[in-house]
Amino acid sequence: MDCIAHVVIFPLPIQGPINSMLQLAELFCLEDLKVTFLNTIHNQERLLRCSNVQSRFEQYDGLFRFVTIPDGLPEEHPRSVEQFGDIISSVQTVAEPFLRDLLVKERVTCVIPDALSYYAVDIGNEMGVPVIPFDTISPSCLWVYLCLPKLIQAQQLPFKGDDLDALVTHIPPMEGLLRRRDLPHFCLTDYKTDPEFLVVLKEIERIPQAYGLILNTFEDLDGPFLSCIRSHSAKTYAIGPVHLHLKTKLAAKQTPSLLSSNSLWEEDQSSIKWLDAQPVGSVIYVSFGSLIVASKEEILEFWHGLLNSKVRFLWVLRPNILKGGEMDYKFMKELAEGCQENGYIVSWAPQKRILAHPAIGGFLTHSGWNSTLESIVEGKPMICWPHNVDQRVNSRLVNKLWQIGLDMKDCCDRFTIERMIKDLMCTKRDEFKKSAENLSKLAKLSVGEVGSSTHNLESLVKDIKGLIRTKENVEP
Ligand code: UDX
Repeated sequence: MDCIAHVVIFPLPIQGPINSMLQLAELFCLEDLKVTFLNTIHNQERLLRCSNVQSRFEQYDGLFRFVTIPDGLPEEHPRSVEQFGDIISSVQTVAEPFLRDLLVKERVTCVIPDALSYYAVDIGNEMGVPVIPFDTISPSCLWVYLCLPKLIQAQQLPFKGDDLDALVTHIPPMEGLLRRRDLPHFCLTDYKTDPEFLVVLKEIERIPQAYGLILNTFEDLDGPFLSCIRSHSAKTYAIGPVHLHLKTKLAAKQTPSLLSSNSLWEEDQSSIKWLDAQPVGSVIYVSFGSLIVASKEEILEFWHGLLNSKVRFLWVLRPNILKGGEMDYKFMKELAEGCQENGYIVSWAPQKRILAHPAIGGFLTHSGWNSTLESIVEGKPMICWPHNVDQRVNSRLVNKLWQIGLDMKDCCDRFTIERMIKDLMCTKRDEFKKSAENLSKLAKLSVGEVGSSTHNLESLVKDIKGLIRTKENVEP
């Protein structure tokens, strides 16, 4: 009789979700759950090359294994946000039959896919295996998604007129807070045929059909949205911030965790050395996550804005950040050489260690959910330059609800950039710092001994263990 619960974790094939899903996997291993982590071959090769996952998971004595599948795309495919729809549908074609086969061949207690991989819920339900999606975007945006049908029914969508500052109704705890421009990107375009919108509709349909739902947040941060989401999925486990949760658990077991990395790019450690030489709170960290693409003009506006602000900066400029897949190394080199007096540019950095560094005073971010949580945990105020998915909602909450930063949405000129950097790092520094540090304290409490995320993770693990399919309860 096999008495160990066996969980299959299946992330979206992009950095943010892979990161939080690997952290969840490690939390499970610490609770003696067996984990199969389904990764694409393309990302697995990068992960093994650039991170220390292999040695980290070896310590769990056979509880963890990677299983790889092709993503169905040709090797030379750029896999950037511009082709996000392609990536998702191509992976689906491969993953659907693979998952079915895996569930036939192995005794699996439950499947934890990214919520966007809605088809995993159908497969699990069909084959009698519980599915608990992990929605790696922000709960506030998930709540907006869940309200989309109501918005359409109430003729809030598509927008009438072109006033993007008009307030949106029919999203209860965000009335008076969200403007049209704060909605997910596809609401601002001809959404009806947008492949991402169509997938999101399927995702929200599946949420009540799944066994439960895992979210990377804590009750004190997203309480009002969690209550609303629980009316669609009663078993919603808010267990985050998962990276802090894992770090706290490893520290309690006296396992060193600071250097753990799930990177798909090689981290440039010289960035830490550079920070070591800077005064406390003097540097703004600039990074737009793993997917965003920008034009050369936009990059130049940031470059001028940063230089003109006279504030020191550490900037992550991925070689593939330019629109259309252009790789212009000469352009990047010139930017780096032209800012040596108060800036340092790298192509990828150990972000969590950077945000924890005392020299960092603020974060200019694209407001991806992992980046937002990582900044909250370290009590670092933000300037937000959001684009897709949840980023537009997150940046509004950073600015208006949590009051821990500024929202630079839909604007990219050197003067605004310079002004906002000066506001964040100098003029309004103390007020932002105070509220950011307050949220950081709450985040730490949530993963403490009696914290809400600790309690929710315990319930999740207990529920999963209760689902163990022994021979006895599968075959009467
Ligand atoms: C995507 C979506 O864009 C985002 O909106 C959604 O919330 C999650 O999925 P991504 O754009 O990659 O994610 O952003 P984010 O969620 O912030 O994740 C980026 C991750 O890469 C973070 O964990 C960050 O620590 C890491 N990172 C980034 C590095 O380790 N080094 C870097 O130099 C930059």
